Amino acid sequence: MAEPINVHYSASGKSFTAVAINTAAKAGEWIKSKLGAYTSLNQKASPGDLVTEIDKGSEKLIKNLIMTHFPEHSFLGEEGVEPGPLASAEALESVKGADYLWIVDPIDGTTNFVHGFPFFSVSIALAFKGEVIVGVVYDPSRDELFVAEKGKGAYLRGKPMHTSTEATLSESLLATGFPIDPVKALPLNMKGLQAVLPKVRNIRNGGSAALHLAYVAAGRMSGFWEINLNAWDLAAGSLLVQEAGGQITDTVGTPYHLGVRNVAATNGRIHDELLQVLKEAGAAEYEE
Ligand code: IPD
Ligand code: CA
Ligand code: CA
Repeated sequence: MAEPINVHYSASGKSFTAVAINTAAKAGEWIKSKLGAYTSLNQKASPGDLVTEIDKGSEKLIKNLIMTHFPEHSFLGEEGVEPGPLASAEALESVKGADYLWIVDPIDGTTNFVHGFPFFSVSIALAFKGEVIVGVVYDPSRDELFVAEKGKGAYLRGKPMHTSTEATLSESLLATGFPIDPVKALPLNMKGLQAVLPKVRNIRNGGSAALHLAYVAAGRMSGFWEINLNAWDLAAGSLLVQEAGGQITDTVGTPYHLGVRNVAATNGRIHDELLQVLKEAGAAEYEE
């Protein structure tokens, strides 16, 4: 009988997860050394959508390292894609059929990075035929590396991570993010915020979606939702949450896939209640 293919190793025996971890750590250390030392700051699609040469340098470093190990793999990184949801969707469409696809956000939380607010991360995921099999989120400010492998659990500093145990919104600490698109996404998020806030202990907007997902996985937050994110914000964190025992869907309850833009991730116990509040507030999806 033929040997089953072990999707976690390449022909050379190099572990996908080891490469993801080493690459995220290298990029994160480099980013941290550049905190407050960027020289070029540009706006992308809108005044709140920032990019520095450090974002671009981090992505180049990550891509070079990954491609050195796995030259036949596909790569989707934020800085290789034109700004805006349409270009993101097209870029994802063009690579999502690949056997092995690395999905990378070289700095998640650029606004924080620019202001010296120490809450940003490097997010690296590997998908096999559209399903995330490795997810690594690295926070260089706290030297915390969150890692998950499909079917093998989620870990922080070698210890298994588990989502929190709150069973109701009223005992929950949630996170969200304020979308930069003022026309559609922001009004939808504000409706949700207004409806959810009175029902929970409180809500945080730390400014890094990938790190928010890592915090849900680590049980530091009960849940997170945000409107209009991209594949590179969510891919690695989606596996962290799932492998830590949580649940991740879009805001109307469709199970997570690479094309999800409106996300809800929780410890599982409060998931239905959160989706219900968003639905009742008309904050789960755009009205056509
Ligand atoms: C942003 C962060 C932020 C979220 C934004 C994202 P970026 O990513 O994840 O928390 O609210 O929607 O675009 O631009 O810093 O990579
Ligand atoms: Ca991002
Ligand atoms: Ca980014």
